[in-house]
Amino acid sequence: MKILTVTGYKGGVGKSTTAVHLATYFSEKGKTVLVDGDPNRTSVGWASRGSLPFTVADERQAMRLVPGANYVIIDTPARPNSDDLKELAKGCDLLVLPTAPDVLSLQPMLETARDLGTAQYRALLTIVPPYPSREGELMRKDLKDGGVPVFETMIRRTVGFAKAALAGLPIRDLNEERIKAAWADYQALGDEIMEVLK
Ligand SMILES: Nc1ncnc2c1ncn2[C@@H]1O[C@H](COP(=O)(O)OP(=O)(O)OP(=O)(O)O)[C@@H](O)[C@H]1O
Ligand SMILES: [Mg+2]
Repeated sequence: MKILTVTGYKGGVGKSTTAVHLATYFSEKGKTVLVDGDPNRTSVGWASRGSLPFTVADERQAMRLVPGANYVIIDTPARPNSDDLKELAKGCDLLVLPTAPDVLSLQPMLETARDLGTAQYRALLTIVPPYPSREGELMRKDLKDGGVPVFETMIRRTVGFAKAALAGLPIRDLNEERIKAAWADYQALGDEIMEVLK
């Protein structure tokens, strides 16, 4: 069993969106359970509006639903302190830390890197504005230069993710081809994670 935890210092940076789409990716590889550890129950709500290709477990039911799973993805609320992050890191194979490409997020991520030390984690740039904006790339470089391990893949900004949440589906299963293109980003991320988990 491989366990991935999606977390970070900040709210609204795509943690739940990332958890749902990583779970979609891994559901194509094996039995996958998404554990919703956020009291807001964003992921549970997402599943209740439509249909997701994996089990979503309220954290209070996880003990019953997780055994036998090949992949467990844990969605969490924003974590205000790094001690919390360290404890989370001990409980999983990889910590995924989504962050949007804005200057205000840079410093907290650099501090996270310092605090986490050698724990298994990667930063993920999400909600990245489209070309010709270079915000994503530039922030990626700043993080790398600051010693933060960061995924090559960045997740583009598109309204498709809000539409998918509303429909209770992963973006993979929407009908609009233009929107669905963003699924390729999470597929590429999943491929990178498979390499890390080897
Ligand atoms: N790649 C993206 N492009 C555009 N909008 C996005 C993207 N990812 C997430 N969003 C939107 O940003 C908002 C916050 O996303 P999400 O709920 O995944 O963040 P979160 O970090 O889990 O938030 P919280 O801290 O409240 O749990 C949602 O409206 C979501 O649809
Ligand atoms: Mg969330």
